[in-house]
Amino acid sequence: MHQTQLLAMLQLDRNSSLPMFRQLYAAIKQAILNGSVEPGMQLPPTRDFCNLLDISRQTVLNAYAQLLAEGYLQGTVGRGTFVSDQLPPLSDRGRADSKLPEKLVDTASALRPLSQRGQRYAHVNGQMHFHQGGPRAFRVGMPGLDAFPFDVWGRLEARLWRRPSTQLGYGDPAGFRPLREMLAVYLKAARGVNCSPDQIIITSGSQQALFLLSSLLLDPGDAAWMESPGYRGASAPLQAAQARLCPVPVDAQGLSVQTGARLYPDAKLVYTTPSHQLPLGVTMSLQRRLELLAWAGTNKAWIIEDDYDSEYRYKGPTLASLQSLDKAGCVIYVGTLSKVLFPGLRLGYMVVPAALAEPIIQAKAVTDKHTAIGPQMVLADFISEGHFNRHIKRTRDVYAERRHVLLQELQQHMADQLECGPSDAGLDLAVHFLRKNSSAEDEQRIAHAGLQLGTELRPLSHYDFHALQTGQAAGHRPGLLLGFSSIPADEIRNGVATLAKIMRQHPY
Ligand SMILES: Cc1ncc(COP(=O)(O)O)c(C=O)c1O
Repeated sequence: MHQTQLLAMLQLDRNSSLPMFRQLYAAIKQAILNGSVEPGMQLPPTRDFCNLLDISRQTVLNAYAQLLAEGYLQGTVGRGTFVSDQLPPLSDRGRADSKLPEKLVDTASALRPLSQRGQRYAHVNGQMHFHQGGPRAFRVGMPGLDAFPFDVWGRLEARLWRRPSTQLGYGDPAGFRPLREMLAVYLKAARGVNCSPDQIIITSGSQQALFLLSSLLLDPGDAAWMESPGYRGASAPLQAAQARLCPVPVDAQGLSVQTGARLYPDAKLVYTTPSHQLPLGVTMSLQRRLELLAWAGTNKAWIIEDDYDSEYRYKGPTLASLQSLDKAGCVIYVGTLSKVLFPGLRLGYMVVPAALAEPIIQAKAVTDKHTAIGPQMVLADFISEGHFNRHIKRTRDVYAERRHVLLQELQQHMADQLECGPSDAGLDLAVHFLRKNSSAEDEQRIAHAGLQLGTELRPLSHYDFHALQTGQAAGHRPGLLLGFSSIPADEIRNGVATLAKIMRQHPY
């Protein structure tokens, strides 16, 4: 891990009763114990901590002093402080029988360390990010809960429980059949997806689909292309499956197939978001789609097409799914109800080539027998009674208005500092700093200042796998991802005012 990333992951809570230096001490110690920082790595200068975390130098010195005393760090404050190079290998860290000071033995690892596989789950590169608290400007990837017809959903659910169905026993691991039939019709009409209901497997969010696919299709060490910058929800399960993560850059046409083919010709799997790249917002061109399909067909590689928010397109033509162009049977289409309905529902699905259906259904059964039937039945009614299509239409208008307000405010107040990325689709907008020589550190500082003022500003480097692996930025222009769909227009205006204030105060 790079110094900047260490700084970015440290979270201190001003309202905690624990003194700030103890919090900083605990956070750095944890990063050392779980292997996020390597032995020998130089820690950032104390002034970087002070600037970014808004804490005093004494707080940092106290935390360093404690870590030096306990053997986690070495060196002298002032001439450079390093993670101790005397630490045992990662798998031994925290073992009771190691030579480490007793305090190194965390309760979590007191009995024995995690398995090699377990460490891949816990490693910071695989860690997932969770929203905290209610929606606020500029939360990313979040639909407007204020636009959801919970009254209708509640009525349908109440009807289900009033007349409990015999379907409420153990069900089909692939999911509630009527829902799969409706999804097959919807996906054909909306996205050109070619499939029968037998190829659709309902999952607990698309996250579970990504998890099952990573573990079923890859052996440890197999190479997998990952868009970089790209979605951590996809890299994490690939990481957990012990795959070799291969960051492939994204340009104005989408994933750079030529670069991927040149750098990682042996890849077994490609993860991509062609309809609306997360986080840059690019739509993959037709030429690139055909290039990718041809490469995957020739190399017998799988493509995971994550079509997470394609319902929301505000301008330009809707391109049919990659799956609809697939002649070789190599595309696995993954979808979610998290954006079009709401994430807490935890419903997603995948459409798999017919030959893959059986093993994946088996794996789904091994994982959790099947996804909860109740919400699937309510969703089937929600679709069949026309609420689903109505909700999509309505939210398209609501989000289009919010997007318009965001673009207008940015244009009015920040046109000399920020340039907007593609804004034709989705729930979020990438903005890039115009100042030359801006960096991931600037992103982090701005994001941190935003949080202090109650505004979420997601740094684009959060998605940068190339940097996570090498410590060097991948070359995308620094900036932020701003979510607009979940927050009313007034809050968007206030959020832009806050961002403008931060960027005026800090010389970016
Ligand atoms: C690229 C991408 N895919 C999928 C999802 C949805 O994940 P899930 O269905 O597990 O909620 C998200 C949500 O943020 C996303 O950004």
